[in-house]
Amino acid sequence: MTLSPTAPQVGTAPLLSAEGLHVTFPGRHGGPPARAVDGVDLDIRPGEIVALVGESGCGKTTLARSLLGLVEPTAGRVTFDGRPLDYSGRSLKAYRKRVQLVLQDPSGSLNPRHTVYDAVAEGLRIHGFAGDERTAVAEALSRAGLRPPERFFLRYPHELSGGQRQRVVIAGALVLEPELLVADEPVASLDASVRGEILALLLRLRTELGLSALVVTHDLGLAWNIADRVAVMYLGRIVETGAVEEVLTAPRHPYTQALLSVLPEAPGAPVILTGEPPDPSRVPSGCRFHARCQVLASAEAERAGVADACRNRDLEVLSGDGQSQVACHWAMSLKGAGNGATSHHAPADAPRAD
Ligand SMILES: Nc1ncnc2c1ncn2[C@@H]1O[C@H](COP(=O)(O)OP(=O)(O)OP(=O)(O)O)[C@@H](O)[C@H]1O
Ligand SMILES: [Mg+2]
Repeated sequence: MTLSPTAPQVGTAPLLSAEGLHVTFPGRHGGPPARAVDGVDLDIRPGEIVALVGESGCGKTTLARSLLGLVEPTAGRVTFDGRPLDYSGRSLKAYRKRVQLVLQDPSGSLNPRHTVYDAVAEGLRIHGFAGDERTAVAEALSRAGLRPPERFFLRYPHELSGGQRQRVVIAGALVLEPELLVADEPVASLDASVRGEILALLLRLRTELGLSALVVTHDLGLAWNIADRVAVMYLGRIVETGAVEEVLTAPRHPYTQALLSVLPEAPGAPVILTGEPPDPSRVPSGCRFHARCQVLASAEAERAGVADACRNRDLEVLSGDGQSQVACHWAMSLKGAGNGATSHHAPADAPRAD
């Protein structure tokens, strides 16, 4: 994939920005609190598509919800268009018009008793839209690829295919003319062919409308196909970020390398991560990945003289500005591999979803 000509350049002022973001949930049964988001800086620039990837439970949805103003951060802040989010009712409502959440339909985002028309018009009604509702609904359906839109007005979700339902969900977001979409696993349950169509739709919306998007996904192949930039999350932190081609063809963090190694297209032996699955109420000291790290386990980190640091020295929060960066003592110790520098250590063939 080549970057779309509309992909913004590093240095453009961000549309949405998280700074030092923390979201901590109270511990269950008197246990320690869960640091679901544990220090994240992340910028999304106008027209940019950022993929947020990582294993189940690493905090992707919590981060996405805090960017949407659905969860108030415990520390840090979210700014949109240069202004910090204000969590009081009215300004949050205005914000939620500009930044829309797209969930996958099987998670119940469409009401089975509402027609397509009502599902799409709902947002307009909530926000007291004063224009011509019918025209706005038709236009949103059409933009989402449901044409002619009138043919879909009176249909119910069960009369549609999975891909069409996902398009209705997207139309419901588009009808409010947002500037940014946050899509949480938008295609996880769709067939591969339909998945490609929905991704193509998201790319087209960026080109046609200049929409920005944060796409949350388990699926690195999907990230490769759609995103300009990828942020790899592990246990509440972003551990590697950069242009999608760079991160996915030359991953520097052992965690990113492990994620890529288990894709069916990956060359070489898969890296099976050992150790306990990460628990945000027990974030390890040192590098939060160290107990499962294949580079530390293989003594490579020892040879590089960083094993002590891996076990004991926490890493700095990566800046959100889109430069290529990694939070790993070993990767940063490799010659010429400082953060921000272009490096091509540990190349792996690029995976593709299709
Ligand atoms: N409301 C909550 N109260 C307590 N803990 C929570 C709450 N929401 C999430 N968590 C915990 O925060 C951590 C991150 O959860 P989150 O849903 O953000 O992960 P995720 O990366 O989206 O996972 P998945 O890929 O499975 O959707 C998990 O350990 C989860 O159990
Ligand atoms: Mg999630």
